[in-house]
Amino acid sequence: MKICVVGTGYVGLVTCACFADLGNEVIGVDNDTGKIEKLQKGIVPIYEPGLQELIDHNLDKRLTFTTDLKLGVEKSEFIFIAVGTPPLETGEADLAAVKQVAAGIGRNLNGHKIVVDKSTVPVGMGDLVASIIEEHSGGQHKVEVVSNPEFLREGSAVHDFLQPDRILIGTNDPVAAARVGELYEPLEAKIIATDLRSAEMIKYASNAFLATKITFINEIANVCEKVDADVSKVAFGMGLDARIGPAFLNAGAGYGGSCFPKDVSALIHKAEKEGYDFKILKAVVQANILQKKSMLARIKDLLGPLEGKQIAALGLSFKPNTDDLREAVALEVIKELQENGARVRAYDPAAGENARQLLVNVKLAENAYEAVAGAHCLVIFTEWNEFKEMDLERVKNLMKTPVIVDGRNILDPEKVKALGFSYRGVGRK
Ligand SMILES: NC(=O)c1ccc[n+]([C@@H]2O[C@H](COP(=O)([O-])OP(=O)(O)OC[C@H]3O[C@@H](n4cnc5c(N)ncnc54)[C@H](O)[C@@H]3O)[C@@H](O)[C@H]2O)c1
Repeated sequence: MKICVVGTGYVGLVTCACFADLGNEVIGVDNDTGKIEKLQKGIVPIYEPGLQELIDHNLDKRLTFTTDLKLGVEKSEFIFIAVGTPPLETGEADLAAVKQVAAGIGRNLNGHKIVVDKSTVPVGMGDLVASIIEEHSGGQHKVEVVSNPEFLREGSAVHDFLQPDRILIGTNDPVAAARVGELYEPLEAKIIATDLRSAEMIKYASNAFLATKITFINEIANVCEKVDADVSKVAFGMGLDARIGPAFLNAGAGYGGSCFPKDVSALIHKAEKEGYDFKILKAVVQANILQKKSMLARIKDLLGPLEGKQIAALGLSFKPNTDDLREAVALEVIKELQENGARVRAYDPAAGENARQLLVNVKLAENAYEAVAGAHCLVIFTEWNEFKEMDLERVKNLMKTPVIVDGRNILDPEKVKALGFSYRGVGRK
């Protein structure tokens, strides 16, 4: 089938590559000229496992890239919207890019199209997209707008796209639902057909629930520290309850990333706009701010005043296996460390280059061992596998003082202490 995907970021590019690999003709459109020039040469501008191989395999056969929205619209039956919906200062979602694309689709319509919204947008946006398209096309051609929220996770995005837990198709038009369903047929995944507004809400409700689950276990961790219990054991015991499940029960330094913070804020804002005070989510936002701040307190507890101290920061991206630094906890805490007079040397397996533009006066190391050399404290911000497998004896010999603050609870406290480290995790004895 002929598909256009507007927006070639983390979601759009994976959508392009996967649909092309499934045998469709895909045109990826973006208004970032630099990005499109790279993609046309086969250079993938983001780090996402398995994506480069899919693009190499399909480029210039079933997959092309352009900045020309008109071309994409005219040549395709399905037009996916996958542009960003970042937060405004008020917390509400910035829908300018989605509106701009909707207007562009309207202006360039040359026949019947199905417009599929993959961007995370507040309830009601699908209806607005339909009316913007109609306004700019003069209503000459029939268009159905379908909500198809994306649930992939950065770091395993290709896998998640191809093996999703479920695919949501939200529309009040059964024919359009069936056509979009056909695109996903090769995946043999569970397809949930629902109405447009419920689909939009399912995405926000899911992300808000996950952010709440993380925040809940973080608060349990904080209580564990006070009562001398171990949150890892508590989470294990809780997770075996089928009603709770083990996922998203890893206590740590707080959630970040391009989705949870903005989606939680956007849902609070949308509820407020409709006259509803979403109390739990407001508490989640506050608790997550405090959880991130508690990292500095943990470091100070072990090191005392930070003036003149050297800190090794391991992991900068908001989660492992991605180079995405949006709302990354590490960036916030590094700034606080610097404000307290510490020097920071950091290492990340994939996000180092992106971090260079965001971090000031931070030395970026080539590997974890270079980062810890001469450090008074090692802080783990992201649970990359290579940090779990570090040679801790070597780490200890390289450090000035053997102190570890483990913001993701990835090290074995007993083992680390037996090696002579002072260790602080989150919610552990
Ligand atoms: N990143 C994730 O893990 C994830 C997961 C699920 C859903 N989402 C949602 O998917 C959407 C996209 O997220 P992302 O992380 O891929 O964002 P992104 O910032 O990585 O990519 C957005 C892309 O859209 C392009 N763009 C912006 N305005 C445009 C326009 N007018 N015309 C053409 N291109 C335009 C940008 O240049 C960029 O390449 C968001 O709504 C997000 O909430 C993201």
